[in-house]
Amino acid sequence: MPHDRTPRIETTAEALERDPYPIFRAMQSGSPIGWVEELNMWLVADYANVEAILRNTQDFVTGTPDSLIFDTFGDHMLTTEGAQHERFKSRFRAAFSPARIRASMAPGTAACSRMLLDNFVNFGHTEFRAAYASRLPVLSILMLFNMPLEEEKNLRTWYDGFEKALSNFARHQDIRARARTYVSEFHALVRRHIERVRTTPDDSLLSEVVHDPSEDRLDDTEICRNASIIFFGGISTVEAVILNCLYALCTYPDERDRLRRNPDMAPQAIEETLRWLAPVQSATRHVVRDIRVGETVFRAGDTVNCMLGAANRDPRVFEDPDSFRPGRANVRKHLGFALGPHFCLGSNLARLEATTAVRHILERCPDLHPSADHPMEIRGFEFRQPTALHLEWQT
Ligand code: HEM
Repeated sequence: MPHDRTPRIETTAEALERDPYPIFRAMQSGSPIGWVEELNMWLVADYANVEAILRNTQDFVTGTPDSLIFDTFGDHMLTTEGAQHERFKSRFRAAFSPARIRASMAPGTAACSRMLLDNFVNFGHTEFRAAYASRLPVLSILMLFNMPLEEEKNLRTWYDGFEKALSNFARHQDIRARARTYVSEFHALVRRHIERVRTTPDDSLLSEVVHDPSEDRLDDTEICRNASIIFFGGISTVEAVILNCLYALCTYPDERDRLRRNPDMAPQAIEETLRWLAPVQSATRHVVRDIRVGETVFRAGDTVNCMLGAANRDPRVFEDPDSFRPGRANVRKHLGFALGPHFCLGSNLARLEATTAVRHILERCPDLHPSADHPMEIRGFEFRQPTALHLEWQT
């Protein structure tokens, strides 16, 4: 029997890329779940249903054998569920705790941030994405694995190839083949460092996983595959939260001034950015068996996009949700890092990098404002951020 996918949302991929929030608001006041024909997927726009689906990993899974993420990286923590997912993730969890991240990463992240700012702060203007936000996460993640910072250029090339492969919905063979080459080059780098720490252990995340004393420790291929998702997960997401926070502060100059006077409010500004303009707007799930959620019937094989960005602006959960208000009482309920078993592994590192970034930037560029020649523009449906961010300040 053909499946009548209703209700439908009459929108386009282009409209969602440009500004999805009015579409989400319309869904929240009518049917919060709807089918988008052009995307061939369901969108879920309210907090309660997004939460229910993300917690239900029996019926809604992250990876299928023909999903692009599985095709590119194989199995790892973001394409597995249940015991296998826990086996992968548990090996890395301790190293990402708030205390460990502060101890292992705070000094290096601060030093890299200062070094990047020194390159341009005297000019009085820059394009922040290329000059700062895209670089800090790559340098940080290399430090986390105790790999030389000179690998930055290689990582950037590989990363850009992975990104193309993960949105290669038309399945172009050349994009797929290039990503496979990059994955093998990346694995070769990780394997070299696995050998290094095997003979000379250090205090890095990699050394800890290689010297795991448990019986079912990860083998080298499993370490490489999970390392790819850790690297992949921690680069453009952190770039985006830094840019989105700067965008918010330029849009709300009173909040910029308040933060400059009270730098200890940086964590609140970052949490509110993760809510107000979530860098990762969606968590994609694949339906395992026919299942009803509210009024909607999903069929096995359907794709469901849980819109974290929409849930973060659900007026049933957040008061005055369209305003950027650092310090709002329930901000930590935001779903910027998702929730449930796949909750972001790197959230504490992301928070450290992003708060370091806004503190340092406001310290050195106190009256930061948009350049008159380059209006700020935000784009993106699954990942959302300014395409470029030209800002100016008094030197
Ligand atoms: C502000 C920056 C970040 C944001 C907004 C973000 C967001 C997310 C979200 C929404 C998920 C869940 C995806 C899903 O359920 O489909 C996720 C998972 C993940 N993130 Fe992050 N992330 C950020 C930074 C990082 C960093 C710095 C790392 C590592 C260094 C990282 C590593 C991961 C990994 C490995 C997963 C998969 C966890 C699992 O499957 O159990 N992320 N992230």
